[in-house]
Amino acid sequence: MTQILYSKPIVDLEVGELKKAIQALNSPPKLKVILVGSNPSSKIYVRRKKEFCEKIGAECEIIRKNDDFTPEELKTLLKEINQDDSVNGCLVQLPLPAQFDGFDFQELISPQKDVDGFHKDNIFSIYKKTSGEFLLPCTPIGIIKLLEHYKISAKCKNVVIIGRSLIVGKPLSMMLSNLDATVTLCHSKTNNLRALTNQADIIISAVGEPRFLTSDYFNDSKDQIIVDVGISSMKNNKITGDVDFENVKDKVNSITPVPGGVGPMTILSLAKNLVKSAQIQRTNKKA
Ligand code: GUN
Repeated sequence: MTQILYSKPIVDLEVGELKKAIQALNSPPKLKVILVGSNPSSKIYVRRKKEFCEKIGAECEIIRKNDDFTPEELKTLLKEINQDDSVNGCLVQLPLPAQFDGFDFQELISPQKDVDGFHKDNIFSIYKKTSGEFLLPCTPIGIIKLLEHYKISAKCKNVVIIGRSLIVGKPLSMMLSNLDATVTLCHSKTNNLRALTNQADIIISAVGEPRFLTSDYFNDSKDQIIVDVGISSMKNNKITGDVDFENVKDKVNSITPVPGGVGPMTILSLAKNLVKSAQIQRTNKKA
């Protein structure tokens, strides 16, 4: 029987832990989310982030800006947030409008408040394999936690990741390599992707094209593990992943559903980063 890798049991367990950690902080941690423009998916994501924060007893303010918001204005806003001791975490929802192309806002958020884990200091901790007071990118750390929960080890496995984004593919490839996986990082120009996915033990797809991975991308061994990061909204308002779930699920050992798989793990990781950043900031203040 194929194992469906639902995130709910993990989220349910962690909500209790997060509530306890927040009570121990005396005052609730505070997150600021900056949403520029009117991307419909972004609106849904930020609403989910706020709802989850409220569920665990954290505060979340969504700062909405119009499409004509400028990089200079974002820079000023982030400076204010960095200087505000009452704010523990901050993120800028992506994608940003075209006027932000090439603008490195990631470096303008204090690394201690960078709950997305995008700042170069946080990313560099992955490359150097250092642990401690670093905040790691939410989707990659969420995927690793999901695999751990279901006792799926990446050690010595052949892992194929499809998608080389800064949010998922690139940091995840390094994090899995740190866990002794052999990682192949694929992208839209990779030759013969089917041959690579067919020989992989674990396939992680972050392409964003609904049902892109049809059943011929997988072999007949029934041993493969599939992690689907894709979230595409269809015309009927349903959400679909990168994998043709119905035609693939009986062919593999384990697979994440969409919705109910990686998405909630990303939000859980964000909340964990927020609590961690509040804990670090409070310890540093006392010292
Ligand atoms: N857009 C899609 N995923 C993410 C994410 O993890 N963080 C931010 N800030 N924007 C996103």
